[in-house]
Amino acid sequence: CGIVGYIGNKEAVPVLIEGLGKLEYRGYDSAGIAVHHDGEIHVRKYQGRLSVLADHLKQETLTGAVGIGHTRWATHGEPSDRNAHPHTNVAGNIAVIHNGIIENYMKIKEWLIEEKGISFKSETDTEVIAHLIDHYYDGDILQAVYKAIAKMEGAYAIGVVCKEEPDKIVAVRKDSPLIVGLGDGENFIASDIPALLKYTKKMHLIENDEVVLLTKDEVKIFNELGQQMNREIFHVTWDAESAEKEGYQHFMIKEINEQPKGVSETLMRRLDKEDNIVLDGIKLTKEDLEHINKIYIVACGTAYHAGLVGRYAIEKLARIPVEVDVASEFRYRDPFVDENTLFIAVSQSGETLDTLAALREAKRKGARILSIVNVVGSSVARESHDVFYTWAGPEIAVASTKAYTTQLIAMYLIALHMAKTADSISNEEYKKVIQELKTLPEKVKGILGDIDKIQHLGDAQFSNESVFFMGRGLDVNVAHEGSLKLKEISYINSFAIAAGELKHGTIALIEKGTLVMALATQDHLYDKMLSNIQEVRARGAYVVAVAKEGNKEVEKTADVVLYIPNTMDELTPVLSIIPLQLFAYFIAVARGCDVDKPKNLAKSVTVE
Ligand code: G6P
Repeated sequence: CGIVGYIGNKEAVPVLIEGLGKLEYRGYDSAGIAVHHDGEIHVRKYQGRLSVLADHLKQETLTGAVGIGHTRWATHGEPSDRNAHPHTNVAGNIAVIHNGIIENYMKIKEWLIEEKGISFKSETDTEVIAHLIDHYYDGDILQAVYKAIAKMEGAYAIGVVCKEEPDKIVAVRKDSPLIVGLGDGENFIASDIPALLKYTKKMHLIENDEVVLLTKDEVKIFNELGQQMNREIFHVTWDAESAEKEGYQHFMIKEINEQPKGVSETLMRRLDKEDNIVLDGIKLTKEDLEHINKIYIVACGTAYHAGLVGRYAIEKLARIPVEVDVASEFRYRDPFVDENTLFIAVSQSGETLDTLAALREAKRKGARILSIVNVVGSSVARESHDVFYTWAGPEIAVASTKAYTTQLIAMYLIALHMAKTADSISNEEYKKVIQELKTLPEKVKGILGDIDKIQHLGDAQFSNESVFFMGRGLDVNVAHEGSLKLKEISYINSFAIAAGELKHGTIALIEKGTLVMALATQDHLYDKMLSNIQEVRARGAYVVAVAKEGNKEVEKTADVVLYIPNTMDELTPVLSIIPLQLFAYFIAVARGCDVDKPKNLAKSVTVE
């Protein structure tokens, strides 16, 4: 979910709608606002995209210079008008927006029903917050919020307005993102920076357990104990422009095309004139590495797939054992973590709740925390000992593309740095890999400059109901990412496997015309892949192979071959994922899917 709030002299409604538009990637099954108008709080909320709310608001004049807004991604209660935020207390004088989950809401709800006879209007956990604040309210909304949050368990960012105090917004952050925007005679709250960039570049980053009191002229930040905190102004250096589509039909294709730049920036910012890797603040000395006997890479979704490639790179180059885990599993399986563990969190947004929770768990057990993050100042970044920022720039499309390729570069640089520090790589080999890395931006550009064949394939294959991706070695990791891209934006049932596993089950599903995407970029596994391709073709599959230029042999077995420029086997994922991203994109477009905002998904999952 995404939250936004405005207090100032302007009309609040357009500011809220604009801000919510930038937050829609966080969820978009319903949207709503609450505005102070004529001495009352007016709530408007509807199921559906933000445009549904915006259309309703066009039909009336809801004036007022103070308000809060919300775009929802349902957790408790189906998407509906009733369950949309803001939620209010019985009298309707307190309105609340909320991102996160109140874990003990059932207990509070039962108490509110039994003790206070409250009848609930929605199935949400959020509504209890409004009633709870109401229960404690005796003329001071800040104090009432303090008392309410003392009873609440879970993760949340909330925004509150109260009819009796029209000159205030109160906001709280606990484990869900919240920032404050500072204007001239106006102030803002939001879930993230892009929501406010149109209005201000001056921000306060709110820390966990802090409560914020906003008036139009002042922002006060308090800690858990109610003590006022000093906070420096955070000046945002990127502009709103770079978060727009720049003429592309979708953010996703724009972001796919930004990969040469993202890859190059992520790489070049970490190399000095002599091509040595400079990790700046990141401390991984020889002594540090001698203490590290285990590395966990933990992440969700696409970032997890980048972690799979990271394991391969670190184990191969630095010879340290690595385990990769999805964050939602890691946090509950009591893993072997101690002071000798290096925990690498990978996250585009830096706000994924499971990743953050896994990080905290590892930190509590004494691990050293290094994160690979795209969003500067995000929660994962702030809670890590060391941060390696990727330079992908803002990623808006829900399906991650440029974040993935820049995460791969980060992984290679970290692996190389470790290898060099631990003397497990020769100087020659080190230089060779760096030189090869430097050729990748141009090679990615090359693939992007010649997309007709892939577009044609997308157009021809769009009606498939299922697709299989397969590969061996590093390729299987890319197969997983290619499959995720396809399923998330085209809703085609797709599945990735290690080609060697075919015979142990999946081949039973291959029939005449089944589309199989076969990655065959690894030299030492090339012949084995050709055999696997033959096996599925013999059962009638239509095979599209991805191979390195010059490896023509595959043309004899596959129906179509998509070539990528030649590179070292270790680095192929940066190239082989590009045709798969494009393939997913063209299929989704051909199927008429909402590419940037696939159904049921959110860009940043800040709930468990
Ligand atoms: C969501 C997004 C994915 C993303 C994953 C992890 O599922 O839809 O695109 O890979 O979260 O997000 P993070 O911001 O932690 O990389």
